[in-house]
Amino acid sequence: MPIPDRAAVEKHLGGCSLARRIVTFETIGSTNDEARRLGREGCSHGTLVLADEQTRGRGRRQRRWDSPAGTGLYVSVVLRPPQHGLAAYAAAMQFAAGISIAETVAPLVPQPVELVWPNDVFVAGLKLAGVLVEAETTGDAVEFLVCGMGLNLNQRTEDLAPDVKGIAGSIRILAGTEADRLDVLGRLLFTLESWEAVARGGGAQALANRFEELAPSSAGCRTEMRVGGELLQGISRGVTADGALLLDTGDDEVRPILVGELERAWRKR
Ligand code: BTN
Repeated sequence: MPIPDRAAVEKHLGGCSLARRIVTFETIGSTNDEARRLGREGCSHGTLVLADEQTRGRGRRQRRWDSPAGTGLYVSVVLRPPQHGLAAYAAAMQFAAGISIAETVAPLVPQPVELVWPNDVFVAGLKLAGVLVEAETTGDAVEFLVCGMGLNLNQRTEDLAPDVKGIAGSIRILAGTEADRLDVLGRLLFTLESWEAVARGGGAQALANRFEELAPSSAGCRTEMRVGGELLQGISRGVTADGALLLDTGDDEVRPILVGELERAWRKR
């Protein structure tokens, strides 16, 4: 069980620019919180925090992220944005993380992997992984981002908490075989490294295009979106380079939604 074994992780991730420094824990509250703490101390771009178990794993919208020992991947990377195009980089990294997980997981499961805006990863209707990107800012300036990723690998259905049964899945549940955590970690970080280079080089549109390819609900679907307290209905019209989902509400306008939750999407007949 190699996750807290920093030497094995270092060997596996050798040369990866997103694992220049690796910090591992057997147990921690949240790898995102620890990465943020290290970021505030001035750690360099590519500091990677990994834990075997999280006791206060966090998801988007203050949801919890169940993170039992020995079964999943709980990873946070500190990203120092480029001098120019900070906002574009932050938006692009939201897509980059989801895309990287989808591309990592695709060869491991028999069913298609689907992204759901902004960056949830689903297989056969079960949520397999999630992304929590958090920005540390001073005034308007983004000091650094923490890109947190959680992947369910080897949980069995009976290991899932009752309230996520039928909602969450794992590679083991979907593929019927266990995944090698170190191997998945390596593929994920090297894939993220290449997409991060695209984001850094101003390739936000390329990331939006790739996201759309992997997210069938992001274009041409009847969609219900929760935005603030409101439930909006419309047709999804794709995503923008700055991270928005375009929602055609039929009122002569296509609304770019930057913060919201896609509650339901189905194909038009
Ligand atoms: C979501 O789908 O709501 C996002 C889940 C993100 C979970 C990961 S696990 C590693 C990192 N540490 C956390 O506390 N959260 C993220």
